[in-house]
Amino acid sequence: MSCNVMVIGANRGLGFALTKRMINTTPCNIIAGVRDPSKARESMTASLGSGMDRIMMLPIDVTNEETIEKAANVASSSLGSEPLRLLLHCPGILHAEKSIKQCHYEDVLETYKVNAMGPLFVAKHFYSLVAGGQPTKGLPDVGVFATISARTGSIADNELGGWYSYRSSKAALNQSIRSLAHELKYRKMDSIAVALHPGTVKTDLSREFQKNVKPEKLFSPDQSAGYLLEVIEKLKHADNGGFFAYDGNRIPY
Ligand SMILES: NC(=O)c1ccc[n+]([C@@H]2O[C@H](COP(=O)([O-])OP(=O)(O)OC[C@H]3O[C@@H](n4cnc5c(N)ncnc54)[C@H](OP(=O)(O)O)[C@@H]3O)[C@@H](O)[C@H]2O)c1
Repeated sequence: MSCNVMVIGANRGLGFALTKRMINTTPCNIIAGVRDPSKARESMTASLGSGMDRIMMLPIDVTNEETIEKAANVASSSLGSEPLRLLLHCPGILHAEKSIKQCHYEDVLETYKVNAMGPLFVAKHFYSLVAGGQPTKGLPDVGVFATISARTGSIADNELGGWYSYRSSKAALNQSIRSLAHELKYRKMDSIAVALHPGTVKTDLSREFQKNVKPEKLFSPDQSAGYLLEVIEKLKHADNGGFFAYDGNRIPY
């Protein structure tokens, strides 16, 4: 019996760091969902080397349901009767409006499509593939559907304003995670759904804002991936529907 996990947005940023770390710390095979598999294979091979042998690449654009459904069908045939122990949904984009006047229709729409609708439709086609299993190094026993959200998506925590499209798209994602958590429970699935905040991480997405962050609060992608995988490893059924920061603390919705 092999162990299988999936990372969507595995080619760069946090998704890549999570993939790399799981190659090094777990015995699992990884299904990597990326927009451009051949480009991703090239860039990932440089640092993963023979680790690539444990990666199966599938094309997914999270704004295109057909690609999500196709990937779920291929993943399902390849898994056979085995589950995905963990699905980590990472894609996200940021248009950082300081004022409502800076909200541009197409940018806001794209942000909602990637950040809010993307994980919703990935959940629709993949939730039934996620389930727990035997104790495995680096993984919890329960199956986990995890999305990378952001503290800025917390309505309770919004003391600064701005970032209209990003904040509201992540709030919508969080709400979908809550509903999915209820559905997983009603369906008596051996899986939970959680939203995760990775901290502020040195990636392309945060490039413009890194200078405003205290050095000790600005994480490398590897550092954040390590923190998040520690949080994930400790998850239990009782954590279903939770919103967790990189340090394991709960964030209010
Ligand atoms: N960096 C931070 O400080 C920070 C803080 C809080 C939360 N987050 C969240 O963490 C997650 C990862 O962000 P990151 O910092 O790693 O950003 P990043 O380095 O910019 O990477 C973004 C990833 O999303 C993928 N992506 C974008 N649109 C997509 C689409 N339509 N379909 C499939 N994949 C798509 C990109 O793939 P391509 O290469 O094909 O574009 C890339 O793999 C995001 O959800 C972000 O909101 C980040």
